Amino acid sequence: MDEQGPLHQPVLPAEVVSALAPQRGGLFVDCTVGAGGHARLLLESGATRVIGIDRDTSALRHAARTLAPWSAQVELVHGDYRTLAQILDDRGVAAVDGLLADLGVSSIQLDTPGRGFSFRRDEPLDMRMDVTSGEPAAAVLAGIDEADLSRVIFEYGEERYARRIARAIARARSEAPITTTGRLAEIVRRAIPRRGYTRIDPATRTFQALRIHVNRELDGLEVFLRTAAARLAPAGRLAIIAFHSLEDRVVKHTLRAMQSAGDVPLRLLTRRPVTAADDEVARNPRARSAKLRAAVREDLEEAA
Ligand SMILES: C[S@@+](CC[C@H](N)C(=O)[O-])C[C@H]1O[C@@H](n2cnc3c(N)ncnc32)[C@H](O)[C@@H]1O
Repeated sequence: MDEQGPLHQPVLPAEVVSALAPQRGGLFVDCTVGAGGHARLLLESGATRVIGIDRDTSALRHAARTLAPWSAQVELVHGDYRTLAQILDDRGVAAVDGLLADLGVSSIQLDTPGRGFSFRRDEPLDMRMDVTSGEPAAAVLAGIDEADLSRVIFEYGEERYARRIARAIARARSEAPITTTGRLAEIVRRAIPRRGYTRIDPATRTFQALRIHVNRELDGLEVFLRTAAARLAPAGRLAIIAFHSLEDRVVKHTLRAMQSAGDVPLRLLTRRPVTAADDEVARNPRARSAKLRAAVREDLEEAA
């Protein structure tokens, strides 16, 4: 697939629009703009201005194409949402009307050859969303201690054979560095008992775990959520989509804690996470594990 495609389908499209209420107009920040699918929905539904952030420069190229009809209203920023405060300060933006984060990796990143995310092709083991910084997965695998690797695979991959897999990787790398997705996938497949997996490729969970570790996907999530909430204008809304239970747990606890503490007058719009309906999952399998949580800033005079 080249840079033109495939068309990325944003998950929970109607639910995101309902949570963020862009028909109010105003400034919306898409902290993970990706191919621009959600940002386009926000603009089509009434958002006046969008700042789209992504740490992946190739995602920003996709977003620029998707959002070309609104180019006068859109600014795309290469950056990490964990530096949200700085990104807004640099633009003189004190408060925003809505903020979206659709966490994790995109299907484009997973499907584009050469990025090293997939065990379905044999290619250099990279897995970085931002190829301009950090260490590729091959370097991480070369340096990580076996016990730490086992913990990463267990926690981020929820992989019950984590210890065996970490041992097999440690043994294999002592023979030759593991530099390709194909070799890593083979090592993992051979480390798992024959009947360990039947429905998914045995390498799936290890690849997911390594990707989360390489991109530090869970680091700084709570601080980001607190920054995002603090930057909401009165009646501003926040919507977060998580795909991993660890990620969703941080989102759930942080939103609840902020609501109880009351530093920002935040009210949860979702007591339970919003998930995709069966027809969306049938169209877009990636939506199966998506969980949306949202909140609104409700200042006293408004609530009254
Ligand atoms: C699930 S996709 C978003 C898709 C997007 N909502 C759309 O409709 O096309 C997640 C995107 O977030 C980006 N991303 C992940 N972590 C990030 C971070 N810490 N800062 C900025 N972007 C990040 C990824 O590079 C990826 O493009």
